Amino acid sequence: MDFNLSEEHKMIRDAARDFAQTELLPGVIERDEKQHFPKDLVKKMGELGFMGVMVDPKYGGSGMDTISYVLIMEELSKIDASASVIVSVNNSLVCYGLEAYGTEAQKQKYLTKLATGEFVGAFCLSEPEAGSDATSQRTTAIDKGDYYLMNGTKNWITSGGRADVYLVIAQTDRDKGSHGINAFIVEKGTEGFHVGPKEDKLGIRGSDTHTLQFNDVKVPKENRIGVNGSGFRFAMKTLSGGRIGIASQALGIAQGAYELALKYSKERKAFGTEICNHQAIAFKLADMYTDIEAARLLVMKAAADKDAGNNYDKSSAMAKLYASKVAMEHTVEAVQIHGGNGFVKEYHVERLMRDAKITQIYEGTSEIQKIVISRSILRD
Ligand code: CAA
Ligand code: FAD
Repeated sequence: MDFNLSEEHKMIRDAARDFAQTELLPGVIERDEKQHFPKDLVKKMGELGFMGVMVDPKYGGSGMDTISYVLIMEELSKIDASASVIVSVNNSLVCYGLEAYGTEAQKQKYLTKLATGEFVGAFCLSEPEAGSDATSQRTTAIDKGDYYLMNGTKNWITSGGRADVYLVIAQTDRDKGSHGINAFIVEKGTEGFHVGPKEDKLGIRGSDTHTLQFNDVKVPKENRIGVNGSGFRFAMKTLSGGRIGIASQALGIAQGAYELALKYSKERKAFGTEICNHQAIAFKLADMYTDIEAARLLVMKAAADKDAGNNYDKSSAMAKLYASKVAMEHTVEAVQIHGGNGFVKEYHVERLMRDAKITQIYEGTSEIQKIVISRSILRD
């Protein structure tokens, strides 16, 4: 067991750190305030290889491992979790889903553009009546011979108004339950596919979240992903990797808040000394440091499981459950350490606190992660 990063991993981490500091940091407060999608930054992240980190270079990707992906996600998330969720969805849900389960033609047509950042991808599972209860899909895709006819509503879709390619999960045979679900590729602009208004959110406000409507959308037969009826397992397997991405996002948010709190506590004086010299503050820093390190180990374990070809359903759920809890708890503490300054935008910690909350909700709530973990340990 080696707990040290290789030189190559350190270089990847440093490149992401440098990008986050020089490119993401300058406009992050304004993007949050105005809910601006970071279009130009997504393009730059594509040029740096961050949009297709683990994709095979023959499809335009960077061909890196999951550890590299986690390091990049952590660094981006320390500064801008809105940018990092776009990266996470594109990499671990859309690119992974296509690379692992798509046909060669689908990979050539879509993956090559998604992996370079030329295209942005969205993953559409959630519906108004099927969030945590994802098998209760109401969106239907009826086999009409040459095409599937898709009808229904997806909500909360990240990059929903900005994506070029949407992976959409739909029910093709209600009688078969989770075995009657398929995954499809829907291109933006397809007739009958409408993007609803943008959600006005508490956090990750620079990311773009929309409800999508499918009214008699004709999806070509060749756009189905995988064998007939495999869509629910496709979604679950893809989400296991996605949860590593969101766990590393939570880790980055927590680490970012910790670094700001540490710096502030060494500068701010009260009662004749820097506040870090008050044990109540020093102990908060000790708790933050310890919990963040524990979260990092869980995140790295999940990434290492994926890279080693081990099952990572449980380890990714554990990493997401724990890292998101740490992010929520310790961003609140980072605001506390900043006192009144923590409550204003220019100190960044209030945004990190708002951004932390979503990591306990999307890609499976914390309660859902506990279902995945408990079922796994009881089964084993
Ligand atoms: N791998 C392969 N197959 C799996 C699987 C996995 N990880 N998990 C479940 N399955 C299979 C089961 O084996 C079962 O197959 P059989 O019928 O052949 O046994 C089938 O799928 C149905 O599984 P369950 O009976 O376990 O289904 P369930 O109704 O109890 O639900 C659940 C399971 C884990 C709660 C699931 O519904 C779930 O994960 N819900 C959360 C949904 C979610 O995470 N949404 C995220 C949306 S994307 C997003 O959020 C992106 C973003 O924000 C940025
Ligand atoms: P519900 O399922 O209604 O849950 C409500 C509460 O009940 C939660 O606390 C939940 O944990 C709890 N609960 C439900 N069932 C159980 C149970 N069996 N046991 C214990 N507790 C339970 N989805 C996508 O498909 N693609 C995206 O790109 C995407 N991006 C998102 C971006 C944002 C900003 C948000 C807010 C959501 C996004 N989602 C996306 C949707 C997200 O995955 C869902 O919100 C999430 O899975 C929870 O579903 P729900 O909101 O319907 O909550």
